[in-house]
Amino acid sequence: MALPASELSALIRRRRSVFPKSYLPEKPVDRALLEQLLENANWAPTHKLTEPWRFQVFHSAESRARLGDYLSGFYQRNTPPEAFSEEKMQKQGDNPRRAGAVIAILLHRDPAESIPEFEEIAAVAMAVQNMWLTCAALGLGCYWSTPRAALQAGEFLGLAPNERCLGLFYLGWHEMPEIAGKRGDVGEKVVWR
Ligand SMILES: Cc1cc2nc3c(=O)[nH]c(=O)nc-3n(C[C@H](O)[C@H](O)[C@H](O)COP(=O)(O)O)c2cc1C
Repeated sequence: MALPASELSALIRRRRSVFPKSYLPEKPVDRALLEQLLENANWAPTHKLTEPWRFQVFHSAESRARLGDYLSGFYQRNTPPEAFSEEKMQKQGDNPRRAGAVIAILLHRDPAESIPEFEEIAAVAMAVQNMWLTCAALGLGCYWSTPRAALQAGEFLGLAPNERCLGLFYLGWHEMPEIAGKRGDVGEKVVWR
């Protein structure tokens, strides 16, 4: 393997969540880069080669605005008055507009349901990690967002009964200094036998 493990380790540890408030809305993300992310996603491991990941890419300003309107509308319709915040509603609508692209992360169950759902969800998550690490290598900010509006977006996205939305992958260029990560000691999570 040509890639030194030390470089891979550094990339894994440097990968961070970067949120839309830090994106540069005036700096577009080229479609060729999105294709690179999606190609890498497609190389995730997959039990029985079901390849359960599907994606819908909101790239054009028009499609991101449509997504923003859906998210803010969902928030407005589903938030009880005592919890409602005008600012939060505005943010739901603004986030996709600020992003270079938003990728809806979809689970596609194979019709035979030949392996358990958790394995399919795990495979989709590995595909997302491939995109996330690729973004880190490119210097693109990104994060996986799982609001209720996304998890219940089947109708908005036109999903089939065997498909489910697992969230939204936001990405955009940014100028944030390197963000320090926070993790507990791995030793506390491991038992050596
Ligand atoms: C499956 C999944 C769902 C997530 N959903 C959200 C979310 O809805 N909102 C959010 O702010 N961050 C979300 N995150 C990002 C986490 O907050 C973030 O990964 C965590 O704080 C660690 O920070 P880091 O990614 O910079 O290491 C999600 C991450 C994963 C893996």
